[in-house]
Amino acid sequence: MVTGTSLPRAFPAGSRLNERGRLEVGGCDTIELAAEFGTPAYVVAEDDLRSRARAFLQAGSEAGQRDLHVVFASKAFPCTAVLELFAREGLWCDVASGGELYLALNAGFAPERIVQHGNAKSESELRMALRNRVGLIVVDNFDEIDRLERLVAEGELGDRGAQPVLVRVTPDVRGDTHEKISTGQADSKFGFAMGEAREAITRVQSVQGLSLQGLHAHIGSQLLSLDPFRRAAAELATLGEFPVWDLGGGLGVQYTEDQPAPPSIEQYTGAIVAAAHANGMGPDTRLMIEPGRSLSANAAVTLYTVESVKQNVSRWVAVDGGMSDNMRPMLYGAVYEAHVADRFGGSTDCVLAGKHCESGDVIVREARLNDPRPGDVIVTPATGAYCYSMASNYNGVPRPPVIFCKDGDARVVVRRESFEDMTARDVR
Ligand SMILES: Cc1ncc(COP(=O)(O)O)c(C=O)c1O
Repeated sequence: MVTGTSLPRAFPAGSRLNERGRLEVGGCDTIELAAEFGTPAYVVAEDDLRSRARAFLQAGSEAGQRDLHVVFASKAFPCTAVLELFAREGLWCDVASGGELYLALNAGFAPERIVQHGNAKSESELRMALRNRVGLIVVDNFDEIDRLERLVAEGELGDRGAQPVLVRVTPDVRGDTHEKISTGQADSKFGFAMGEAREAITRVQSVQGLSLQGLHAHIGSQLLSLDPFRRAAAELATLGEFPVWDLGGGLGVQYTEDQPAPPSIEQYTGAIVAAAHANGMGPDTRLMIEPGRSLSANAAVTLYTVESVKQNVSRWVAVDGGMSDNMRPMLYGAVYEAHVADRFGGSTDCVLAGKHCESGDVIVREARLNDPRPGDVIVTPATGAYCYSMASNYNGVPRPPVIFCKDGDARVVVRRESFEDMTARDVR
């Protein structure tokens, strides 16, 4: 329930309802944004991204970790403007494919600040990483070690020195999250099981041209409790002493007002650093974390326009986007909240449905909107992670633009896809 001008916590920092009762993000009136740029649109509060990056870095040094590297998991929001902003803030970048590596380099990340991930890295992706001599390749499986050995022997590294690598371990720690975003359990497609990890370490150490730096674990995403992170650090520490520890990402965020609050960036970073130190990963080792959604999810909202409202068993409010701009509710039941951008505080129970030809194309199953009508602008907060990156052209719907807002100025950093863009790859 919204009272006065207070906003639900899922909105970007600095958002407010202005004198006309309209949502402002980054100082920009969202009704005006919708009129100027059309809908659906991803609207990003630029300063919110920046302040989260700074909060992580500052929390690391306040917790006594001189060498904390904050690695943005680019899959969360792989848009050049977002990557450029984080590169300028001094973050590192996690990439999980050749395409993400290309995007990171193109956005200005120095190769030595890039961490390459993937459970099925292709030969060409590994060649690309070696040629650029990225900061770290996170080795996932024995086949990959064989492939790397061969590529290094073929001279792919040139005279660039040994390639630093980490070994990815699944510490058999489960966080309380959806199974589709849980990765630390023994039966995971990612990394080496604890029982195999020592052999993987020895094997990597035997390859000339690879320089083993340490271990990596990412146990899952949208974690609201800090305990699994502590348990993962303790498990990793049983595998030996290394100069680098990468404890992955996974800090949960506020998607709806009703959900439990996630730990703050400061609490999370403090807990990670404390757990690392308690397990012998001293302040002089390099500690890395890989936040994705906790850097970008709450920095953005999506704007839609209501196309139709109908009543049967439920009140169906259908908008001009849906699963083509936010797959998460359909993929793993992610829950969002929605508001009419100039009439917050609604009490009508509605289903916020997308425009796609799927019954499952429902953005918010239990929305409470204030008397929604065709033409209204609807806003869903916390759409800055895994929405843009999972967008599609389903039903021939062009992907939305990304609009950066700061101090009342709005600029398009990704234009809306055109119909022509959708045929640009056709070969006739
Ligand atoms: C290896 C790795 N690191 C970091 C992340 C980022 O996770 P989150 O966005 O939950 O912080 C992911 C997410 O899939 C991942 O697979």
